[in-house]
Amino acid sequence: MCGIVGYIGQNDTKEILLTGLEKLEYRGYDSAGIATLGEDGVHVTKVKGRIAALREKVDNENDATIGIGHTRWATHGVPSVQNAHPHQSSTERFTIVHNGVIENYMALKKEYLEDVDFVSETDTEVIVQLIEKLYQKHKSTKKAFGEAMSLLKGSYAIGLIDAEDQETLYVSKNKSPLLVGLGEGFNLIASDAMATLKETNEYLEIFDKEIVLVNRSFVEVQTLDGEVINREPFIAEIDASDTEKGTYPHFMLKEIDEQPIVMRNIIREYQNEKGELKLDKDIRKAMQKTDRIYIIAAGTSSYAGLVGKELIEKIANIPVEVHIASEFSYNMPLLPEKPLFLFISQSGETADSRAVLVKIKELGHPALTLTNVPGSTLSREANYTLPLHAGPEIAVASTKAYTAQIAVLAILAVDTARAKGIKLDFDPLQELAIVANAMEIITNQKEELEQLSNEYFASTRNAFYIGRSMDYHVAQEAALKLKEISYIQAEGFAGGELKHGTIALIEDGTPVVALATQENVNYSIRGNVQEVVARGANALIISSKGLEQDEDAFVLPPVHELLTPLVSVIPMQLLAYYAALHRDCDVDKPRNLAKSVTVE
Ligand code: AGP
Repeated sequence: MCGIVGYIGQNDTKEILLTGLEKLEYRGYDSAGIATLGEDGVHVTKVKGRIAALREKVDNENDATIGIGHTRWATHGVPSVQNAHPHQSSTERFTIVHNGVIENYMALKKEYLEDVDFVSETDTEVIVQLIEKLYQKHKSTKKAFGEAMSLLKGSYAIGLIDAEDQETLYVSKNKSPLLVGLGEGFNLIASDAMATLKETNEYLEIFDKEIVLVNRSFVEVQTLDGEVINREPFIAEIDASDTEKGTYPHFMLKEIDEQPIVMRNIIREYQNEKGELKLDKDIRKAMQKTDRIYIIAAGTSSYAGLVGKELIEKIANIPVEVHIASEFSYNMPLLPEKPLFLFISQSGETADSRAVLVKIKELGHPALTLTNVPGSTLSREANYTLPLHAGPEIAVASTKAYTAQIAVLAILAVDTARAKGIKLDFDPLQELAIVANAMEIITNQKEELEQLSNEYFASTRNAFYIGRSMDYHVAQEAALKLKEISYIQAEGFAGGELKHGTIALIEDGTPVVALATQENVNYSIRGNVQEVVARGANALIISSKGLEQDEDAFVLPPVHELLTPLVSVIPMQLLAYYAALHRDCDVDKPRNLAKSVTVE
């Protein structure tokens, strides 16, 4: 899951590539590079580390009119200058950037490239060496590129330049995301629209296994068999300023603070002019028709799915199963007659989820995607899409997308219940307005949460989060947040489960964060707190107004019990944020992670 960008035009090629890579850095940031082609040939600059280091190393020669760039999340070969992209063919005629994994690269190497000396450990170098080999056969870059693409197995988004052709950027993709940005006298390619919003907001989608020749004044799209495709461009509804940090020190803090606004966006977008719930009628029909819903997601989105299961089952009375996408692909359960697949994905590009979508479409089952990126692969390839309206989420640790997913799932559950004639005393638009106000109150208590974070997490190597029912699902998300940005080992546990083994890990001072927002299990979870405190744990209790007790460290403003995850997660996000901050971790770009996981 890397980020790639390409440009062909008259303007400042290097600056456009570097700015694009800075916007894509959340996709992978262990090494980077650019290649530009000017009158004096191809210039390649690569570094181990961040775009900032690349920007320092790039010379200010500026006659290049065509270029490609890459920011990496290593799959094959350690992060190093050698393994960084772009990669070149042996004669350096062809230069390539690639996002994805070539599954048959060893086989291709054996069959076609036994006589080639490789300089990197990457699967990507095999592609560019293969193109050079096939060029000797075809004496045409287009033909060599086309044949090479037909031989690749796996996921790829590719940009290639030919040192002897200043007019064409050779482009293709399979499974990995890639767009063509359209301009006057110039054109671009990018892994996502955010990379090139300063240049254009008009984009052309590329479908799997298409060959695209990008010239500065036209774009030619063909199938692998040479059939020319005409496709209408679309306008990306993203404002470039949304991708800026503004005065915030980190995107994560900005995105935590944006959650009240996101709730109000969702209230506005999911109601009609009469103030009634507004939802696509085909989605309503699909929800009414199904006899079982399968939620498919990964990471934080799967934890939102666990809350969604409770909301849909309790409100709309439809059985729901939540499956980790990477497991479901290879271990599909017995399906009922009319399953409906509900994909939850902030990016809409998670390869594990997409692999499931491809499989269930082959089986002819309907799919609905909840995503923050309408037009993304999981949105395009599903039957229906429900947008999250959360605005671009840049920080790798997901925050506002998680709460937006839960809010939209609540709306979906109520809309379905009403369509099924179920009487409800729960109006999600009213309740979400109360949630938005509660979120504002909590995000204005940062100092208190920073102190608590310092008190409980300053020197610990591990921590536990416990909860029951809805709180158990939030505890799992809270543990993930702490792990992924502060590198403190943490686990989210069902409060009643600890005594069956894991309580053995509790010792003097072990931080245990307990959530008590559910009335029917309030006493049980407080009993669990006593169990761990009796073994030396340092307990931090977060409760809802009306359920609070004197020893509670933080009390949440009252919201509807079914929506408490929307407010209880915010202190969890901030506790993790301050723990990472005080450990000088890179809050927005944690080690070893990337925002959109586009490889399986
Ligand atoms: C969450 O903070 C992580 N970035 C990660 O677990 C993420 O939720 C997961 O990769 C799923 O991503 P998606 O929602 O874009 O599909």
